[in-house]
Amino acid sequence: MAHQAGKEAAIPLLTSYQMGQFDLSHRVVLAPMTRCRSYGGVPQPQAAVYYSQRASRGGLLISEGTVISADSMGYPEIPGIWTQEQVDAWKPIVDAVHRKGALFFCQIAHVGRVYTTEIKVDEPAPISSTDKAVTPDDEAGIVYPKPRGLRIDEIPRVIEDFRRAARNAIQAGFDGVEIHGAHGFLLEQFMKDSANDRTDMYGGSLENRCRFVVELVDSLVHEVGAHRLGLRLSPFVDYMDCVDSDPEGLAAYLVEQLNKHQGFLYCHMVEPRMAIVDGRRQIPHGLLPFKKAFKGTFIAAGGYDQEEGNKVVSDGYADLVAYGRIFLANPDLPRRFELGAPLNEYERSTFYTQDPVIGYTDYPFLDDNNNSFSAPNVSIE
Ligand code: PHB
Repeated sequence: MAHQAGKEAAIPLLTSYQMGQFDLSHRVVLAPMTRCRSYGGVPQPQAAVYYSQRASRGGLLISEGTVISADSMGYPEIPGIWTQEQVDAWKPIVDAVHRKGALFFCQIAHVGRVYTTEIKVDEPAPISSTDKAVTPDDEAGIVYPKPRGLRIDEIPRVIEDFRRAARNAIQAGFDGVEIHGAHGFLLEQFMKDSANDRTDMYGGSLENRCRFVVELVDSLVHEVGAHRLGLRLSPFVDYMDCVDSDPEGLAAYLVEQLNKHQGFLYCHMVEPRMAIVDGRRQIPHGLLPFKKAFKGTFIAAGGYDQEEGNKVVSDGYADLVAYGRIFLANPDLPRRFELGAPLNEYERSTFYTQDPVIGYTDYPFLDDNNNSFSAPNVSIE
């Protein structure tokens, strides 16, 4: 039977969605990605170009991990949000995204012991749940510094730093805040039993290991409201020596804690590592119990392509899908999905370099004028 104009089935990823008070016109989210172009910890004008390139009407962008204090600069030239100078530098970036009609959430982070930059001899050790360092990465030539386990009486200060960062993010104009509770950073160092060797009320049982993040969520709900807060988790990922012996139990417990806050906006979960079968990524689809249990919006992330993204949205496995590397390389990703257009390849070697243009704002858009897909591909490897 011939297609009737306008009657084609909608593309699931490009359908509208109500996320709490926010009207999204599609479900293709920019995942938070460290980009290392914020010199001296201050976001730069090139970030306004980068983010606004990826903004579309009714789309949702999540910022790169933005650190909450001077003792959290674990990667070179990452942005912070604890000084007024940083807040003022974020404002025009947020404005540029809003002018394109998109929503912008700020991901706030503390790296804990994950220091890839050098710690000078006279600098204090990084803070963590533990005194154990991350195993050296021989391939990358990184020896992680020995951290210092936080004392109980220091935890409120770190929570206060997160709180100031969340307040600052709202002051800078962000629509909401995502807490970085993933990828082996400080909060996971407390949550996961491979990294938490404490014997006090912040270690041992699941409840004790989650106490830090639960207290933090409480505090930020008071500061900015549950309606503009999200939490990113990676219970199944074993990055930076953070592994849990019961990731399902951990994820279920955390979702239950979030559900205690009426209207808690979203839970953003990273899939376990993908397997490649017959040359294609196979999404493990291990997050379904948590999507079912969580009362707010559920965002899935981790190696999705267009087809898998459409599938999980139409199956009700995820409300939204966050795209990292392919959104980095395709500033007009939702449009390409709409047209079924080919994608630029990403260039891994420039993910974390500091050039304000190369590998950052120079990925080509589709040539919209003639609708041809003639944009040159960025070469890889
Ligand atoms: C993160 O912020 O989660 C992150 C940062 C840098 C990486 C990987 C993950 O290389």
